[in-house]
Amino acid sequence: MSSALEPRIDVLLGPDDLRHALRADVLAGLTRAPKELPPKWFYDEAGSALFEQITRLPEYYPTRREREILTSEVAAIAHLTRAETLIELGSGTSEKTRLLLAALSGVGTLRRFVPLDLNERVLRGSTVAIAGRYPGLEVHGVVGDFERHLGRAPVEGIPLVAFLGSTIGNLKPVARAAFLAKIAAHLGTNGALLLGTDLVKDPARLEAAYDDAAGVTAAFNLNLLSVLNRELGADFDPGAFEHVARWDPGAEWVELALRSRRDQRVRVAGLALEVAFAQGEELRTEVSAKFRREGVEAELEAAGLELLRWWTDARGDFALSLAVPA
Ligand SMILES: C[S@@+](CC[C@H](N)C(=O)[O-])C[C@H]1O[C@@H](n2cnc3c(N)ncnc32)[C@H](O)[C@@H]1O
Repeated sequence: MSSALEPRIDVLLGPDDLRHALRADVLAGLTRAPKELPPKWFYDEAGSALFEQITRLPEYYPTRREREILTSEVAAIAHLTRAETLIELGSGTSEKTRLLLAALSGVGTLRRFVPLDLNERVLRGSTVAIAGRYPGLEVHGVVGDFERHLGRAPVEGIPLVAFLGSTIGNLKPVARAAFLAKIAAHLGTNGALLLGTDLVKDPARLEAAYDDAAGVTAAFNLNLLSVLNRELGADFDPGAFEHVARWDPGAEWVELALRSRRDQRVRVAGLALEVAFAQGEELRTEVSAKFRREGVEAELEAAGLELLRWWTDARGDFALSLAVPA
């Protein structure tokens, strides 16, 4: 008889570490020109719940398209990789990952699932749900920053690293190259990487995906100011900023920003900082790079990985790459 194993959670980033990292990013980001903060700070409880809503919006196609590809290709992925440890980076609720877990369990190779995310509460929820669904599977969650803590994700047997949702597009090219090289190092000689990338397409569709009619993405973006108010004692007035989502054809990314509606000064008490915003000035909060096959292949190759399979959905909106050490 098999009963659910209690999930294990390693907390490599506790509340104090997170606040410390947030302070450093906000100090650096609000005192530089142009102002910019990394998107990882979107994901507090409210931000994570808003992201879940975004994945169901009519304009936000990436989640549906990636699920479409996974649905038709998970069996091939399981057979090609025969993975024994599945590591998921930026796992969130691990919704789509359940397809992979089922397929890998089906071929009988999977022993361990290691989701890694910054948000402890979301991670705890998904590990408990998955451990309950797969008795006998060792579920070992890691609360951490994937750019800093990937090396601490435990591997036993053949690893498959899944980085879904095109979250890789939130890293700029230099950080992306460094991160792909870290992933390659973590794969050893027999592992594989499953990478989700949103593809370059009609700018109107791209911008709509980040500026939905219901205003959910705007609320997600503006929620960042509430995070700064709560965690750092800042006095941002969210009503004094507007959501911006803009396609940059040169960089081939959608840029999210918060644009100041007026000249204003904002105090960040926790940093003893006062910051001036001119009317129309933008605080960049995210880039979401869009990809082409040649670019993905070249970036993988530069990291020492070889593209083994490239799958897209029927419309060619989104791609899943399976890559192995070259
Ligand atoms: C765009 S969501 C994608 C969620 C899910 N993988 C999907 O495909 O729907 C990004 C996820 O990555 C997490 N995240 C963002 N930056 C992170 C970082 N630097 N380290 C760990 N997790 C991060 C967020 O908490 C969130 O769950």
